[in-house]
Amino acid sequence: METRLQVNPFHFVKALSSALELSTNGISAHHLGTAIICQSFAKAMKLSSDQQQLLVTSALLHDIGAASDWDEKHKIVTDDHESHIFNHAILGFQILKQTPLFEPMAQIILHHHDRYNGPNPSGAVGDAIPLLARILHLADRIDVLIQPQQNILLQREAITKHILQSDYFDPQLIVVFEQLALKESFWLDISTLSHENLYKESTDLFGKVSLDLEDLIAVAVVFASIVDEVSRFTYKHSFNVANVASALAQFTGHSDEEVKVFYLAGLLHDLGKLSVPSSILNKQSALTDEEFLIMKQHPYYSQRILSMVDGLEELANWIGHHHEVDDGFGYPDRLLAMEFNAGIRILQIADIFCAMVEKRPYRASLSVDEVRAHLMTLVGQGKLDAQFTGVMLERLSLFNQLVDQNVSERA
Ligand SMILES: [Fe+2]
Ligand SMILES: [Fe+2]
Ligand SMILES: [Fe+2]
Repeated sequence: METRLQVNPFHFVKALSSALELSTNGISAHHLGTAIICQSFAKAMKLSSDQQQLLVTSALLHDIGAASDWDEKHKIVTDDHESHIFNHAILGFQILKQTPLFEPMAQIILHHHDRYNGPNPSGAVGDAIPLLARILHLADRIDVLIQPQQNILLQREAITKHILQSDYFDPQLIVVFEQLALKESFWLDISTLSHENLYKESTDLFGKVSLDLEDLIAVAVVFASIVDEVSRFTYKHSFNVANVASALAQFTGHSDEEVKVFYLAGLLHDLGKLSVPSSILNKQSALTDEEFLIMKQHPYYSQRILSMVDGLEELANWIGHHHEVDDGFGYPDRLLAMEFNAGIRILQIADIFCAMVEKRPYRASLSVDEVRAHLMTLVGQGKLDAQFTGVMLERLSLFNQLVDQNVSERA
């Protein structure tokens, strides 16, 4: 990776949005569907391009607060229990306001379930609820009413009726909705997930036409925290792998820029774990064969999501193969050792090393000597590369200090 990394912010947000859709059965499209509906409202209402952009990106990330909570994740995509689903809106607000790039979305997401007539936990009612949040609320509730397995035009009447009967929404927006609902194209845009006109490539996201490595790391930190949050026993794992992989990159002669790319890769390597239910990730005992099969899908999804971003293909390739093994029995591509590059090797070793040093519910953290013995065994068995592992073995105590061994304090 010789040239400096520059990434289109919208591509990155759109990719991360699909990470919020991961489930055991693949990638759904609630965020994308909601964003498409928001875009139709924004155009019909002639919102400025800045406002459109803010609305659509907010829609793409609106349920970010539910990403690490499987129970809430199920609740929010149904039409029931709306009064009980404010938690993820508050959590989403807290997550987004920490990152300057995402901060403008925080307020919108805080209010995205507020009912126009209240009462709302946020205290806001009527026009005091930000306009973009009112649009997002309506768009979100339209999207959850759609049954993907049925033709959307056959559902139009029932959905429209359902929305018009509700008094949760801003009456001015209901007028806009009634006009939009008449158009077949409004509905077909949703069902075909036609997102080509969500953005123009030249668009700048909150003052950033492209994201550099520092920006990407700042955003990745948010997602790494979400991934680590899902699993209370490994709640620093992504950060540990980031620290160890970047140090190993440094000791194997990579440039400063590349070292940072390895830090980014460490943060994002387990993004696909959002497809694994917390009941599996948090299991106190060994996984059953079936549970392990579901666990095994995570590097596939990490790669799939990140390879959607122009400029991150190589990083996605490393990440997708961090569970491949030199003997050809790894997953998900069963690569052979000769197909590995330095990036794959560094992430592989960093991940294995961190897993050994971190505590697990069923075992203590391994000592430096135990880790050494274990790594040497894996090299001897032809499962790990001798050269890269050797660089780590020469400085094992130093690498050991880079890993936070603790499990979460959360109950
Ligand atoms: Fe929501
Ligand atoms: Fe992993
Ligand atoms: Fe990992």
